[in-house]
Amino acid sequence: MIIRLLVGITQRLEVKKLVETKKQTPIIEAEDLGRVFVSGVFFKEQTVAVKDASFKMMPGTILSLIGESGSGKTTIGRMILKLLKPTSGRLLYHGEDITNITSKDDLRKYYSKVQGIFQDPFSSFNPLFRVDRVFDMVYDIFLPHVKNREERTAEVLESVNLNPERIMHQFPHQLSGGQLQRLLIARALLLDVEVLIADELISMLDASTRMGILNLLVDICQKRGMSVLFITHDLALGYYISDYTMIMHRGLLVEKGATAKIYDKPVHPYTKMLFNSVPDIGKRWDKNEKFIPEQVDQEIDKFYKENKGQGFEYLDSDHGVLLSTE
Ligand SMILES: Nc1ncnc2c1ncn2[C@@H]1O[C@H](COP(=O)(O)OP(=O)(O)OP(=O)(O)O)[C@@H](O)[C@H]1O
Ligand SMILES: [Mg+2]
Repeated sequence: MIIRLLVGITQRLEVKKLVETKKQTPIIEAEDLGRVFVSGVFFKEQTVAVKDASFKMMPGTILSLIGESGSGKTTIGRMILKLLKPTSGRLLYHGEDITNITSKDDLRKYYSKVQGIFQDPFSSFNPLFRVDRVFDMVYDIFLPHVKNREERTAEVLESVNLNPERIMHQFPHQLSGGQLQRLLIARALLLDVEVLIADELISMLDASTRMGILNLLVDICQKRGMSVLFITHDLALGYYISDYTMIMHRGLLVEKGATAKIYDKPVHPYTKMLFNSVPDIGKRWDKNEKFIPEQVDQEIDKFYKENKGQGFEYLDSDHGVLLSTE
């Protein structure tokens, strides 16, 4: 099974080696982070989108967050980006509690180091602003002291393989999805961000553009010591790119740790199911090999019951599993 996930293993292991040689402290730390949404006017309905999520984002490291639709991945990303307030737990930035910062000044400082890139890059740009205006705003808000604006902008655009002369006077609708995502990466580079939340970053791009952007991300991570939260549905992508992996199911982080360990020996029944549902190239779809969600739910319930009282357990220093919810 693992063979089919081995695309690009060499590059991934290189990232890993580089990371392991440094002794580091986390940039972002989530402690039992939770978010409950309340909806409905007369009958209040609660959705527990995220529950007790704890993890660390280390410099020069890519951390994948993988799970089915609606499992709470974007909610975690939005809480780190302070677009959503956690309803429980704490969020630390370089050891400092930032869960409740609200002042414009504090947020501006935070956003100068923590940025997000979302699935739909079109929504991240004002359609009426040309690219040069987008960059001017970044300078005005975050980097007012920079004098050689044009030179700096050209540098970062070239580093993401965009032609500054061609692109600077264009409007977002005149650019492709891949170009817009590279533009967002360029903006993050200009700010020299420490943390990048990449939510389904490349899902709308074709295979070759994807590889270009992924390799760019790994490269930046290595060279600049940036920490990336890479949110995806795609297991193979997660394996290709990340040093650490978190598997999310119904608001809970059910398995987390070093990517190689999780992919080598998945323990949680949901993680196992994810691996089993990766299609095999060279094998045709067999309609008898049905994937039944109810069956997975039953297996997860059984697993939790059998391990009742054990909670989240570390099997070794960098591989942990949620053995039971009670
Ligand atoms: N603003 C909101 N108000 C109410 N419920 C919400 C809100 N945002 C998210 N949710 C709910 O929280 C849960 C988690 O949503 P989230 O967007 O984090 O999932 P996701 O893992 O990112 O899914 P996808 O892979 O489809 O992007 C879902 O049940 C969703 O309906
Ligand atoms: Mg999402």
